Amino acid sequence: MPEQEVLLRVEHLCQYFKTNKAVDDVSFDIKKGEVFGLVGESGCGKTTTGRSIIKLYDITSGNIFFKGKRIAAGTLSYKKAIAKARAEMKTADPVRKAELKSFIADQRVRMKAAIHDHKNCDKLYANLVAEEVDKKFQPLLAAAKGDELQKLKEQYAYEKRIARKQRFMTQIQMIFQDPIASLDPRMTVYETIAEGLVIRGEKDKQVIDEKVYSVLEMVGLVREHAGRYPHEFSGGQRQRIGVARAVVMNPELIIADEPVSALDVSIQAQVINLLNELRHRLGLTIMFVAHDLSVVKYFSDRIGVMYFGKLVELATSDELFAHPLHPYTKSLLSAIPLPDPMYEKKRQRIKYDPLSVHDYSKEQPTLREVSPGHFVQCNQAEFEAYQKELGL
Ligand SMILES: Nc1ncnc2c1ncn2[C@@H]1O[C@H](COP(=O)(O)OP(=O)(O)OP(=O)(O)O)[C@@H](O)[C@H]1O
Ligand SMILES: [Mg+2]
Repeated sequence: MPEQEVLLRVEHLCQYFKTNKAVDDVSFDIKKGEVFGLVGESGCGKTTTGRSIIKLYDITSGNIFFKGKRIAAGTLSYKKAIAKARAEMKTADPVRKAELKSFIADQRVRMKAAIHDHKNCDKLYANLVAEEVDKKFQPLLAAAKGDELQKLKEQYAYEKRIARKQRFMTQIQMIFQDPIASLDPRMTVYETIAEGLVIRGEKDKQVIDEKVYSVLEMVGLVREHAGRYPHEFSGGQRQRIGVARAVVMNPELIIADEPVSALDVSIQAQVINLLNELRHRLGLTIMFVAHDLSVVKYFSDRIGVMYFGKLVELATSDELFAHPLHPYTKSLLSAIPLPDPMYEKKRQRIKYDPLSVHDYSKEQPTLREVSPGHFVQCNQAEFEAYQKELGL
């Protein structure tokens, strides 16, 4: 099977809030077209990961790449490396000193590049799109005359204006956790959905109408809903409005942050089915955040499990359910009830107590590939035990 294209790459992401390491050295890839589930209990850093990806924060450290372009980068790792080298310099011999000096210079260059990319990813993209418009229109303008030329000039100005307002980041859209808090109560459904298009520079009322009405229908609402306000809708419908607002921007990646947790179980399935349908229809890639493994099981191709800011296990959905390795994952799985009375009688909830199951006094854990595509946060001793558990 050919390697699937990596759409999003998260590399050593850290997002600290003062001393709270909300996300701490998290790495994963999301491949084009897949659904990537991110699970873990409340407060483990799922939303913070999502918000870091859409650049709501200046991340503390690490890199985030989208379609191969760096969209976010932090500086702490460079600063730490420089400080460490400086400290070593004090006692180093001249040869080592020279090495350290060039190392520090190199780290500075890298840090500058990181800051540059973090700040400019949108602007660089807008310039690129504007250049494409120039390329398209220049030969046409050169060949046209009279009325036709005038019309072409207008079209050129219009497309150029839109191009300059393009933002690379609009290709990633987030559906927020709380459908009530994330919708402005004073805006109609129409205004809510159209907002992103207007910000992007769209002024043509007909184009906006067409897009808004077509996504309304796509998410299972109707034209008549457009003039109403969020409070007039049920929870499930509000989440559909949230989906419409994301989809109208024609994104490639949607981050759905616990889009169904606030809903009744019967409505949860409807919203998940909707996302699944849209995924196929629009070729979307989805990062689906949930705190409950049972919600992501059938929907996700791969699943990452987070615990206290760390990614503790990452595998395909099938593999994770068949061969969970990390004790935290096992404990999450043991919490899922199944509609099987025999199983339910025997089911025992496994509690996860990190201090009693891990001995990290000699060696700290890192994320390691225990079998192809199956990663677990572990040290060498645990790594060997996990391989044995898999019969490797
Ligand atoms: N803006 C912020 N300022 C300070 N601390 C924050 C901020 N946002 C999140 N945190 C803290 O970071 C940690 C991770 O929070 P986050 O919202 O990412 O968790 P979560 O996994 O999404 O939880 P939930 O399932 O409850 O939504 C928590 O300890 C939280 O208190
Ligand atoms: Mg959250």
